[in-house]
Amino acid sequence: MKKILVVGASGQIGTELVIGLRKRFGKDQVIASDIAPATQDKLANGPYEELDILDNDKLSEVVNKHKIEEVYLLAALLSATAEKNPGFAWKLNMDGLFNVLNLAKEGVIKKIFWPSSIAVFGPTTPKENTPQLTIMEPSTVYGISKLAGERWCEYYAKQYNVDVRSIRYPGLISYTSLPGGGTTDYAVDIFYSAKRGEKYNCFLSKDTPLPMMYMEDAINATINLMESPIDSIKIRSSYNLGGISFTPEQIYNEIRKTNPDFEIEYQPDFRQKIADSWPGSIDDSDAKNDWGWKGEFDLGKTCQIMLENVSVEG
Ligand code: NAD
Ligand code: SER
Repeated sequence: MKKILVVGASGQIGTELVIGLRKRFGKDQVIASDIAPATQDKLANGPYEELDILDNDKLSEVVNKHKIEEVYLLAALLSATAEKNPGFAWKLNMDGLFNVLNLAKEGVIKKIFWPSSIAVFGPTTPKENTPQLTIMEPSTVYGISKLAGERWCEYYAKQYNVDVRSIRYPGLISYTSLPGGGTTDYAVDIFYSAKRGEKYNCFLSKDTPLPMMYMEDAINATINLMESPIDSIKIRSSYNLGGISFTPEQIYNEIRKTNPDFEIEYQPDFRQKIADSWPGSIDDSDAKNDWGWKGEFDLGKTCQIMLENVSVEG
């Protein structure tokens, strides 16, 4: 059985991806790693390594020690945090990717998953049903790093036969681990206020549409993409993935069906400009056609699960 390394495993996606991969391939096959010691109990039921992705020697050591064949690279600075530290965001998001791509180029590992984002699009991109191939002029450092990363992934696939696969995730909604500094975080934060019975202060305006997805759909898509036959992977930059599109007002109204007294106020901050530069909805027909992507969770189902499971204890 192949051994898999997840880098950035303690984050919003990593926590659930490790659970999903361990369920599918066995707990000892999946090595979780992050820059800090494991804080999530959920990662403690299998192997864990403390690993800074910028430390190339340690990366090689971990890969050799566990005879790793596949790497899922999740360590990155997200859109809002990256704007506060553009130089370091560029370094982490690009050097981390090169360290892993080069391991595959040298034949040390066989396959890579690296996530891109809707942030590769920009203010000049068509906003509705944004196509796979279109104008891409991202205006954030995060988006610039993701677009550059996509071009490098395709280059390594074409020039060096590296099997690297990628999805442009929309904003992800989950309750296991808090989001790590993105513009779409409001769609998670809002559930914590609703559960605490507090008014939610939303950092985006009420009529800002963004593509989002419940985490289980994202994890299933990721593992399906990685497990699909190599011939079905036609796009080596990154696949559009749509999910559900809604505005803050629409998710607020959906939550009020369960919590009728829930209140919201809108105080847009610097993240509004980022959100305004991104698409409102995504055309993901290539992912559907090439490797059978299909989402299961609509807004109603997502809100119901989040309200049932978000924990505000402690
Ligand atoms: P996150 O911020 O929640 O998690 C990132 C993890 O990486 C953290 O646990 C952090 O400790 C770790 N990390 C940071 N620096 C590191 C380093 N030098 N070495 C090793 N680990 C390090 O982010 P996430 O939401 O889980 O996102 C994971 C990936 O998916 C990122 O590339 C992000 O751009 C992409 N993505 C996320 C979303 C989303 O909505 N969550 C949407 C689109 C794309
Ligand atoms: N959820 C991410 C962010 O807002 C999108 O890549 O940064």
